[in-house]
Amino acid sequence: MKKILVFLILIIIILLQSCHKKVIVDKSIIPSFFIEQISNYDSYDKNYLYQYYCAYLDFNSYIYALNYVNHPVFLNNEIAKPALLLNNIILVNRKFYLDAYTIPTSLIPVQNVKYIKRKNEVMMIDEVTLQNYQKMEIILKQNNIDIVLFSAYRSFEKQLSLWDNNRKENDQFLAKPGFSEHQTGLAIDIGTLNSGLTVHFENTKAFKFLKNHAHEYGFILRYPKNKESITGYAYEPWHFRYVGREVAKIIYENNLTLEEYFYQYLEIPI
Ligand code: DAL
Ligand code: ZN
Repeated sequence: MKKILVFLILIIIILLQSCHKKVIVDKSIIPSFFIEQISNYDSYDKNYLYQYYCAYLDFNSYIYALNYVNHPVFLNNEIAKPALLLNNIILVNRKFYLDAYTIPTSLIPVQNVKYIKRKNEVMMIDEVTLQNYQKMEIILKQNNIDIVLFSAYRSFEKQLSLWDNNRKENDQFLAKPGFSEHQTGLAIDIGTLNSGLTVHFENTKAFKFLKNHAHEYGFILRYPKNKESITGYAYEPWHFRYVGREVAKIIYENNLTLEEYFYQYLEIPI
């Protein structure tokens, strides 16, 4: 019994070392439970079985192992691709874009909340996003905290004019047309009348509440501090994104960005 145990430990040590050294080992060492499970996934490619197993030993997650091997440069890929829609959640960022003609069908005019009215402009937003924003605003009001919606949906053309007028000063804060998640209708910029959309918003009671409770209404802080290299944007305390309560809770509790959530929790097609 003792000998068998020592033998098994030795095998595991050899396997772990070979994973890191990328040494080819006998594939029969890979446990059958692992092969059974991983081969059920759509993005499984039998040629990478060994690499998947190595990644699985590191991350203890099938999804993570598949994404890690199939998409090694997901978080810093330079090639632009169409927006990724998985499990009803859309990823739009510096790499994943929307075409100019993409206009969400769920848009409605912003109403029944405090928002900035601009000349010749009707502020539009995704309907479910507005419903949840409204719930959040009511709770904030009950705590004597005022928030104001500064912007929500932005069309491709609107983003283009912002880009043309501001890109030089604001590259770190501004998405190119097609690459802004404001075009989904699910992104919102929240401030107070005093702070506006500035870093000063971070020091308000409103922000402190939102930082810890926005997920209860389905929102995430989309461009957090210290995650700039992952999101590709500077810290924006005012920019929130509606993803639904279930996903927002996971992102909040695990201190993730939306990019990390996709990579760790959703199987990305090859
Ligand atoms: N401020 C964000 C990055 C946008 O322009 O969509
Ligand atoms: Zn924004």
